[in-house]
Amino acid sequence: MARIVGGVTTSHIPAIGNAMTEKLEQTPYWKRFFDGYEPVKEWLAEVEPDIAIVVYNDHGLNFFLDKVPTIALGCADEYHNADEGWGLTTAASFKGDAEFSWHIAESLIEQEFDITTCQEMLVDHGFIVPMALMWRHLPEWPVKAVPLAINTVQHPIPKARRLLKLGRALGKAIESYPEDLKVVIFGTGGMSHQLQGERAGFIDVDFDLECMESVINNPEWLADFSTDEIIRRAGTEGVEVIMWLAMRGALGDDVKVVQKHYHVPISNTGAGVLALEKAA
Ligand code: DHB
Ligand code: FE
Repeated sequence: MARIVGGVTTSHIPAIGNAMTEKLEQTPYWKRFFDGYEPVKEWLAEVEPDIAIVVYNDHGLNFFLDKVPTIALGCADEYHNADEGWGLTTAASFKGDAEFSWHIAESLIEQEFDITTCQEMLVDHGFIVPMALMWRHLPEWPVKAVPLAINTVQHPIPKARRLLKLGRALGKAIESYPEDLKVVIFGTGGMSHQLQGERAGFIDVDFDLECMESVINNPEWLADFSTDEIIRRAGTEGVEVIMWLAMRGALGDDVKVVQKHYHVPISNTGAGVLALEKAA
């Protein structure tokens, strides 16, 4: 049967992508930030997942404001990357696993998550920046990937609690797949940031650290927030942090912390990374 090995949540700031392209990892601005990812990379090399399910938000690349699904699942054997305007270098395409995706789709719909299935899906920086943070040192991507895009761009957007429940349903879906696959769950976005309007540049370190603690030990705390309240505390784009609850929901009750790291600011954002191993 398929098995969840653990999960990783991380910010997906486009500037990180450009820093990797320009090989700025050891420069004073970036060193501490990138050092925070080394234990996560080591853990991934040890557990050797076969598939990564990447819960993220599309930023207007694959879905524009004319049509915005609340939850969209990639059901393809390949996903191409493109840049929606940050000047990011296009990354190598990702292999998918359509058969696995359709199983996840069936199970989620059975569990009353009425997702949109996508047999073509372009993936943006919300997906690619985290993948590159983990695996850019390798000649090719070492995992297949399944994108799961959550709308945090066009209101109304799903509530925090919905993402925790989605993660739990995703966990059941994965663990009912008959093939022996090791699966890692990514949740990308956040932490606090606001890119426009009167509060542009807004960051709340205390809230970010509370969110990290909650995702580890008490996901109910963050799940209880309304969308308005998360936006008040974390900024309009900081609401992306709900992705972290989907990862946590998939892992079940008991987790072990592999890495917890926070660095502020990167670009306009509180940058966090968390890696959790699922208890056996
Ligand atoms: C930034 C952060 C994001 O999550 C994003 O999608 C775009 C930009 C930033 O801080 O620059
Ligand atoms: Fe974003």
